[in-house]
Amino acid sequence: MKSAIRVLYGFGMDSTDNDLFGDREIVAEPERKPKSKKSELGQFFTGERIAAFMAGLFPQPRGSVRLLDAGAGQGALTKAFVETARSRGFKGRLEAHVFEKDEEVIPDLRTAVAGLDADGKVFEGDFIERAATMIKLGRGDRYTHSILNPPYGKINTGSAHRGFLRTVGLETVNLYPGFVGLAFEMLADGGELVAIIPRSFCNGPYYLPFRRWMFARGAILHIHLFESRNKAFKSDGVLQENIIIHMKRSVEQGDVKVTLSTDDTFEDLSETTHPFGKIVYPDDPEAFIHIPTGDDGELLSAPAFGHTLKDLGLAVATGPVVDFRLRGDMCAPDDADAVPLLYTSHFVDGELVWPKENFKKSNAIRRNANTEKWMMPFGVYTIVKRFSSKEERRRIVANVVDPARLPANEVLGFENHLNVIHKGKKPLPEDVAQGIAVFLNSTAVDRYFRRFNGHTQVNATDLRTMRFPSIDAIRSLGTWVKELGRRPTDDEIDRKIESLA
Ligand SMILES: C[S@@+](CC[C@H](N)C(=O)[O-])C[C@H]1O[C@@H](n2cnc3c(N)ncnc32)[C@H](O)[C@@H]1O
Repeated sequence: MKSAIRVLYGFGMDSTDNDLFGDREIVAEPERKPKSKKSELGQFFTGERIAAFMAGLFPQPRGSVRLLDAGAGQGALTKAFVETARSRGFKGRLEAHVFEKDEEVIPDLRTAVAGLDADGKVFEGDFIERAATMIKLGRGDRYTHSILNPPYGKINTGSAHRGFLRTVGLETVNLYPGFVGLAFEMLADGGELVAIIPRSFCNGPYYLPFRRWMFARGAILHIHLFESRNKAFKSDGVLQENIIIHMKRSVEQGDVKVTLSTDDTFEDLSETTHPFGKIVYPDDPEAFIHIPTGDDGELLSAPAFGHTLKDLGLAVATGPVVDFRLRGDMCAPDDADAVPLLYTSHFVDGELVWPKENFKKSNAIRRNANTEKWMMPFGVYTIVKRFSSKEERRRIVANVVDPARLPANEVLGFENHLNVIHKGKKPLPEDVAQGIAVFLNSTAVDRYFRRFNGHTQVNATDLRTMRFPSIDAIRSLGTWVKELGRRPTDDEIDRKIESLA
């Protein structure tokens, strides 16, 4: 149940726009299970080691401290903050404001706060509502510090939370950016925030307003990445990559410290420092946040790879056929109106295999008035799997649709688990399709992708912001593969891509 919850409220529900067919990025009908209170409130408490690590990121305070902990649970983070500051010899005034909505944990929270060497104040109720109202009214406290493990959970369009956040100008689809954005806004100039949050806000269009909100208000000092996605919160069985981010209000952005550890023992902690331009590329309109992990050569930051798909005259769309919505139109490949319907599993070792024997899905879809608008013209395309399994070596897996392996037709169906690269809604020239596929299958692209995307999903937007070589270089890659007459090896591809830089 817990991992299903995380899929529902973590990365799984993120979808991106699809310029070709409207919003069709649908992978399965959402589960409609009753939610436990714990999942509804995004209640995952921070363990002691992580809490101590987070508290240790703040420099020793000077003057007096006013701390904000929103979604405080049982107070683990406030406790770690106060204990760390006091054990380091901080003798000044320390006020701690903790916000919590769940009345069941409030008694524990009160006990924890009362036991601290600080003036604690517990605020019961909804943090988003209270904070947004105070900000809107220009009232409320300003904080010197904020430490957060906020709740995660989807914020629906039209919900009260969405409305409150909108009144202060923060558009977001999940509770955690709401909490972090409001807390950052409530800091005094020079105030610092440390938060543990999912990595999903680092990319994707839905979190762009949040990224902009944060960059407009201050600077990232430090990002810590847990490399093992199932260890940071292992006691709750939560599976996703989490980061700890340390930001400072109203200061110029400088270099960013990046630390990595496998898990919450921090035994193998490594540290590097990067100019901000390597974290958020200055020419990236989507302002993706890249997290360099050491083994990711920066090949693609070379100017030779400074082109987007759009610059190449190409576009990408999510496979428009959502099979469960067109169930009645599925048919056998030899039916009169059958059109090939391509799924990821039709691509085997880089080759299109169609029809697939003993296939659980349908190899074909009927062309009729109902399905016509979801079809694409027959021909050559590059397709990229939207989901790879965690075991798969590469996050990006690209293939070329070779129409010679299909019965001739006027149109084709692409299922929703595929991204389809097209040219003006039409097929690609063959050398371009081959060149794009070779490029996307390279180690350089895989490493580049991992810098900003912590999960196994490849969205159309990710491909729209991917850096490509020029169209001439793409064509030359395509010609190279054709002349080779076989699938190039990974080494051959990598050497070829390096030669383009
Ligand atoms: C991920 S837990 C973390 C708790 C605590 N910060 C920790 O690190 O252990 C998030 C907490 O936020 C609380 N919460 C959820 N929605 C809230 C809201 N709208 N306002 C205040 N608290 C909320 C939950 O009840 C839960 O205790």
